[in-house]
Amino acid sequence: MTDEWQGWREAAEQALYGPDGFYVRPGGPGPSGHFRTSVHASALFAGAVARLLGDIDESLGRPRELALVDVGAGRGELLSAVLAAAPRELSARVRAYAVERAPRPPGLDHRIEWRAEPPSGVAGLLFANEWLDNVPVDVAETDAAGVARYVLVRREDGEERLGDPVTGPDADWLARWWPLAPGGEPGLRAEIGRPRDAVWAAAVATLDAGLAVAVDYAHERTARPSFGTLTGFRAGREVRPVPDGTCDITSHVALDACALPGAELLPQREALHRLGVTAARPPLALASTDPAAYVRALSGAGEAAELTARGCLGDFTWLTQPAGSSPPDGIGPSGA
Ligand SMILES: C[S@@+](CC[C@H](N)C(=O)[O-])C[C@H]1O[C@@H](n2cnc3c(N)ncnc32)[C@H](O)[C@@H]1O
Repeated sequence: MTDEWQGWREAAEQALYGPDGFYVRPGGPGPSGHFRTSVHASALFAGAVARLLGDIDESLGRPRELALVDVGAGRGELLSAVLAAAPRELSARVRAYAVERAPRPPGLDHRIEWRAEPPSGVAGLLFANEWLDNVPVDVAETDAAGVARYVLVRREDGEERLGDPVTGPDADWLARWWPLAPGGEPGLRAEIGRPRDAVWAAAVATLDAGLAVAVDYAHERTARPSFGTLTGFRAGREVRPVPDGTCDITSHVALDACALPGAELLPQREALHRLGVTAARPPLALASTDPAAYVRALSGAGEAAELTARGCLGDFTWLTQPAGSSPPDGIGPSGA
């Protein structure tokens, strides 16, 4: 067969979102059945997003309707939790949109509107936790002569071989954001993030005013991984990426390439810290005055530690992107 070899972008698109794809299969367990994101790790994450939403609300002058758009919403877990965490006066004015390629899960809060594309012309917060890493991209690898070529993959077993040289806009993207083969070394790899830049810019453009935030595992131009990051996940385990629809296919995001003017990139531990999430242990004295409160505070500190830990979720990057003519500054007590 001549068409059994495909570029990784096309192969992952089919494997994740094609008929019976990993993310869209009816009745599948959803992302939380295969890996743990910050959303599932602790309600403190949703609490921080609710706080950010409140800051944006203030900066926009407390409009009658405030949009909360979750792109790559999974099963709507973050939206449900933010609506629950926000003060009643605020949540009553929030219009919540889940943007997902998977179908609406049964039993979801009726206040959440389920859609395939973000609404346009809205004001508020657009949030995308671990969305961009699941936007399929092509992979490039240098051949024996140091020429960057597309990596082709076979759906049934994940075997790879090299295809045509990378040319045109993909080659321009590599040259600008992820230069390969400075010394002609063979076997260097890069994920060509151009489709992610495009979908992020389009998502930001749907906001008339407010803040767009993408949270993902990321790398920057000064420290790209030499052999790329493409991998698979199934049932909580990292597995070899085979684009047959049985596992997640993901790669870290070049978030600096996605950033538009005015953006800020910061580690999750810093972003959550600015939003009041702290892993500080409660004072021991509380244990004798109010033991139940002490245990609650201790457990909260443990969850905050997981969300902000180095080498784990705390290393995720937040890309904050103000939108509109008089946008909020960013995040934090004195920000948005
Ligand atoms: C890793 S999951 C993250 C789910 C959730 N945000 C969380 O943090 O738990 C990525 C989700 O993005 C969705 N997704 C990928 N591309 C999308 C697109 N273009 N539009 C809407 N959803 C998309 C997938 O279907 C999947 O549910």
